[in-house]
Amino acid sequence: MINNPTTLQDTDKIIIKGGNRLFGSVDISGMKNAALPILFATILTKSKCVIENLPAVSDVTQSLEILQEMGAIVRYLTPTTVEVDTESFRQGLAPFDLVSKMRGSTYLLGAELGRFGKANVNYPGGCDFGVRPIDQHIKGFEALGARVWMENGYINAEAEHGLFGNSVYFDVTSVGATVNVMLASVLAEGMTIIENAAREPHIVDLANFFNTCGANITGAGTSVIKVRGVKELHGCTYTIIPDMIEAGTFMVAAATTGGRVRVTNIIPKHMETVSTKLIEMGVQIEEHDDAITVTSDGKLKSVNIKTLPYPGFPTDMHPQFGAALCFAEGTGIITEGIWESRFRYTEELGKMGANIIVNGKTATYIGKHQMTGARVKAVDLRGGAAVMIAALAAEGVSEITGVDVIRRGYYDVVGKLKALGADIQ
Ligand code: EPU
Repeated sequence: MINNPTTLQDTDKIIIKGGNRLFGSVDISGMKNAALPILFATILTKSKCVIENLPAVSDVTQSLEILQEMGAIVRYLTPTTVEVDTESFRQGLAPFDLVSKMRGSTYLLGAELGRFGKANVNYPGGCDFGVRPIDQHIKGFEALGARVWMENGYINAEAEHGLFGNSVYFDVTSVGATVNVMLASVLAEGMTIIENAAREPHIVDLANFFNTCGANITGAGTSVIKVRGVKELHGCTYTIIPDMIEAGTFMVAAATTGGRVRVTNIIPKHMETVSTKLIEMGVQIEEHDDAITVTSDGKLKSVNIKTLPYPGFPTDMHPQFGAALCFAEGTGIITEGIWESRFRYTEELGKMGANIIVNGKTATYIGKHQMTGARVKAVDLRGGAAVMIAALAAEGVSEITGVDVIRRGYYDVVGKLKALGADIQ
């Protein structure tokens, strides 16, 4: 077990008495979806890295446990700073139970392939949005010269003659496949060109981490990333970017409860799509250097949203906006462009009185229905955030079960909401 000094509270439900407006200031943690690729990227440095602003969420702790079980030396320097020494990391079967709990463990494939020329990882877990294919990851590994096959539930990859830079064109824009090809190609011979690459800030963060370790990666943040393989990397000290999804979740919570919250330690540029939608809903947004203040009288207007890869509206903010739309005037529509099966949370909101009609990739939210507290479940990470937001703004008491999934991506969400005035435990 990783000895993380900020051990998360071990509760199995969250109780919220709705109706309190949120006021005050909340500090945002480092970004989970940047931390995971960077932690697995340390494998390629074969040396000591110090990673700062790591969020103490369970996906991160489990990633560190995987690294440790495979031979890395992991040491917490502060509650959010960890030193990872991967010199003694061993290639081999990854710990089955840990890998099957989280999606980010697919990154072991690219990282091990890049360092050892082979990898064996069981099928990774993560939020259940139906089928989560990895065909683009495999296409990328094969383009670099690896053979990939499935056997007994394991994904195996091997580059018998080494990995060589090549052009990789993704048929769909995938964060995971972009990360995995960057991991596999950073030490490969020659130049890899990734086309139709994901442009998310966490892709840029991974490239910045690698370049700090001596890699030669250009174009991250655009749809064409060029990775010129280098012979070796060295360790470094690196600070993870703030979590734009955690920030967006608090912004929507403030807007829905009708409060005034300063969301701090963020990069406002990353919040543009969320801020723009909230402004359309009648919320006041003030941008500062590294913070945003959200002011709302709780009277929201309905909007339509379509989720798309970055810089489009993030799918990971869809459920939270879905909750907000239940309290808005009029009818809003959300069209899901990434995960078609992301609507399971709407059934939970229905238990609180929401009137939502789901039809394929689209849900229609008929706003201003009286929302009342109920027993609901966090069906997945962001679905859990949605029921929390609804419970904060609804009348009466809600009991949320399945909170383990919320801990995967939100550090101390109960403490942070309590500090803003929520009646939560
Ligand atoms: N896809 C394919 N083939 C592939 C890979 C993806 O068809 O080989 C499709 C997927 O089915 C999906 C789309 O491409 O329709 C995008 O998937 P992507 O690979 O970008 O998602 P991911 O890497 O598995 C990451 C985040 C998710 C986030 C998505 C989209 C991590 C660990 N997870 O998943 O985050 O929803 O990108 O932005 O970074 C969350 O944090 O709550 C979460 C689910």
